[in-house]
Amino acid sequence: MFTESTTEPRPARLGRRLLGSSLARALATPHGVDRYVELVKPTFSLRDVRAEVVSVQRRTPTSATVTLRPNDNWRGFRAGQHVLLSTEIGGVRRTRPYSPANSEHDGGLVELTVHARPGGAVSPHLRTRLLAGDVVGLSQAQGDFALPRRRPRELLLISGGSGITPLMAMLRTLCDEGHDGPIAFLHYARAERHIAYAEALARLAARHPNVRLLRSLTRVGGLGGGELDGHFSADHVELAGIDPEEAEAFVCGPAALVDAVHGQWARTGLEQRLHVERFAPPPLAPLPADADAASGALRFARSGVEAANRGGTLLDQAEAAGLRPQSGCRMGICHTCSCRKLAGAVRDVRSGEISTAPDEQIQICVSVPLGDVTLDI
Ligand code: FES
Repeated sequence: MFTESTTEPRPARLGRRLLGSSLARALATPHGVDRYVELVKPTFSLRDVRAEVVSVQRRTPTSATVTLRPNDNWRGFRAGQHVLLSTEIGGVRRTRPYSPANSEHDGGLVELTVHARPGGAVSPHLRTRLLAGDVVGLSQAQGDFALPRRRPRELLLISGGSGITPLMAMLRTLCDEGHDGPIAFLHYARAERHIAYAEALARLAARHPNVRLLRSLTRVGGLGGGELDGHFSADHVELAGIDPEEAEAFVCGPAALVDAVHGQWARTGLEQRLHVERFAPPPLAPLPADADAASGALRFARSGVEAANRGGTLLDQAEAAGLRPQSGCRMGICHTCSCRKLAGAVRDVRSGEISTAPDEQIQICVSVPLGDVTLDI
């Protein structure tokens, strides 16, 4: 098992940083109460959620499991929901969505597992540079993909790759609550060493006779492995021993897995019993016939920048024009990139819907301009 743990805080460095240039800057500039008090207590804020890194464990060659202790502004989460984590990298504030993987009943702690994507701007940084004692920003928990408050008796939890985290939270929460109805957990991964929660899952299944764990390891010496064979199929539901007409099913993972599971539930008329979380945007809606040639100009009113519309999302085009608008997931989930469109028409790349209303809030990571567009950036 690949495990590397960092629990050594870096208070000395943090203290020096805070009492050095930050303090000098703060005293020379008028700020709100938050800014002064955070020099002494970095997690303090009157309104914002900030969290101290308690530990960082590197359990797989590509992931880091980070335990956070949020400040008093944190209102907790429902298993399955996600949070937006913000951190400053190279002077730029970056925000990304992550789903807590721990139980709702974990004493106010939040456990996130970050999978480092090659070439990613945030995840490799979090995996290699984050240390105990660091402070990050958090949003309140959000999203409808969550364990219902009235717990279903029978559950089928299906995850692929890093989609395991919200379902781990559900399983751990149910186990903490002594849930005794049948729960089947189906997980799809390339190999056991890529499963950040392999040991935790096995322990829960061993301790709770109502929990059934079935894994499909698709690349073990090219032969497959685990209790399931290959990619998701209707047989796997049968092997899980769960009645899909009675159970609430939850799926989170790559688009191919989510689509396969969704197709199966749709074919059997049980769609309303399936809860879906994607961590990639659905395929783009087809372009209207007359919109394949980008035209017009983009005006970024607040910064006074103008650029020709070259196609692509407004976020990509704003960045290409040298601006640094806030962004997070870049797939329409977190709303970090929301800004006011002052004029012009945009197309939502997820739905294909065209909006021409002036003065409306749009998500620029999933909006492409149709002709002239003015944004309040
Ligand atoms: S960056 Fe997350 S919704 Fe646009």
